Amino acid sequence: MTAQIIPVQNFDIVVFGGTGDLALRKLLPGLYQRFRDRQMPEAARVCAVSRREVSSDDYRSSVRQALTEHVNADDLVPDEVEKFLRLLTYVSLDANGSKGWPDLSEWLASGVDKIRVFYLATAPELFGPVCARIGSEGLVTEQTRVVIEKPIGKDLASARAVNDAVGAVFAERQIFRIDHYLGKETVQNLMALRFANALFEPIWNRAAIDHVQITVSETVGVGNRADYYDHSGALRDMVQNHMLQLLCLVAMEPPSAMDANSVRDEKLKVLSALKPIRPGRVEQATVRGQYAAGAIGGKAVPGYLEELGRDSSTETFLAIKAEIDTWRWSGVPFYLRTGKRLSQRASEIVVQMRPIPHSIFPRDAGEVRPNRLVIRLQPDEGVRLYLMSKDPGPGGMRLKTTPLNLSFGETFKVRYPDAYERLLMDVVRGNQTLFMRKDEVEAAWTWCEPILAGWQESDEGPEAYGAGSWGPTGGIALMVRDGRRWVEPGT
Ligand SMILES: NC(=O)c1ccc[n+]([C@@H]2O[C@H](COP(=O)([O-])OP(=O)(O)OC[C@H]3O[C@@H](n4cnc5c(N)ncnc54)[C@H](OP(=O)(O)O)[C@@H]3O)[C@@H](O)[C@H]2O)c1
Repeated sequence: MTAQIIPVQNFDIVVFGGTGDLALRKLLPGLYQRFRDRQMPEAARVCAVSRREVSSDDYRSSVRQALTEHVNADDLVPDEVEKFLRLLTYVSLDANGSKGWPDLSEWLASGVDKIRVFYLATAPELFGPVCARIGSEGLVTEQTRVVIEKPIGKDLASARAVNDAVGAVFAERQIFRIDHYLGKETVQNLMALRFANALFEPIWNRAAIDHVQITVSETVGVGNRADYYDHSGALRDMVQNHMLQLLCLVAMEPPSAMDANSVRDEKLKVLSALKPIRPGRVEQATVRGQYAAGAIGGKAVPGYLEELGRDSSTETFLAIKAEIDTWRWSGVPFYLRTGKRLSQRASEIVVQMRPIPHSIFPRDAGEVRPNRLVIRLQPDEGVRLYLMSKDPGPGGMRLKTTPLNLSFGETFKVRYPDAYERLLMDVVRGNQTLFMRKDEVEAAWTWCEPILAGWQESDEGPEAYGAGSWGPTGGIALMVRDGRRWVEPGT
């Protein structure tokens, strides 16, 4: 089956940080795939900028190499690669200085009528200066959009400062705050599941749902990003953005339409209804962990402090019991869990239904387990609905849990586009539905800040856990205390 491709209008994209990891690993491979699928027009152009002095030819060679590393061999069609590379130009430019800006202006001058995208794949400290310069150079046209990457701030004040600096040059309708989790097919399928089927809405509330679990687990450690990560930690790196966005999509009321503001208004209401975890409650509602040495896949790995080379109380694991103060969700906890160097790489949302009120089956029929809906974002995207069914055969009534499995890869037999591919095309189309609005980012920080403050006041640091485990025992206790348990991803 071939996925339907709707070509986008002609555009120019300027990638600030064009020689960086994000650009070479995600953005250029993503653009290549859209080009190969004929979604990106042949007259579109890409200008990569960073300080490094390299010629456009040398830059194209590094992109050719990056495509070999980050695009499936089956999708690497040599003619298409060469045609795509011809769309690329490199300009050496210092975002903080004057070098390169006239070259960039000149390059853009031949595309005044096209859609223009500035993608800021640079450190967030550059967002303000780059936008100010784009403005003062007169490079913002009516059809211009700017894309900014996480992290947007490290607390509410710094997030506001970023939003204000970007907002001083661009209107909100031109600003695309990317959260690549929202570009995943399964996340959009969650909306299809909830709002294109009549089945779920009547049970999508406290009457039928016992609790929700969201797990984003990684097997990788911090590696050579230890210094960056140490200023961030799991709350800022994962929860404030990706995990709260997932929570919003599970919890939001049905929007009146699938347009950017209707969807984002509903997400904002969820963020605003999150019960604050004030410093006095932080120890009951959150568990921090930090990985110690251990083994992943049979290979010994060092602990966080060894990688960092100094002492630190930054959390590499976090479990939170979040609550939403609304009629729909009152009494339904949302347990969030994320961490590095955990047992498996997986991102899953588990919607755990309540048990049946009364069993009519004899004891030897087996346990009647509550239904569970599992939305899996990675590694293999899909949705499973666990139902009770009869074990086949004449051996009497034996009950067993059986998943109704909607594996997208198997059902639709299409290549699953990377989230960045989809989101880049949405930017060109000017569709902000899957991007965060300013007030959402700020509401998420408003909820996270008291947690950070509580940790600062606390005498306790993060609890150590062995690399390759499912995190500290406190993380397990957080649920056991409520008579519940974490569902292992993939089960
Ligand atoms: N990598 C990822 O998977 C990922 C995922 C999510 C979010 N992000 C975010 O995306 C941004 C970029 O991440 P990254 O991993 O790609 O970082 P990176 O590998 O360190 O790349 C940074 C890029 O910025 C350029 N740069 C630095 N200072 C500059 C200046 N003054 N003027 C112009 N260019 C400058 C660098 O090139 P020169 O040094 O040659 O100038 C380089 O191309 C960060 O905000 C990061 O948090 C990254």
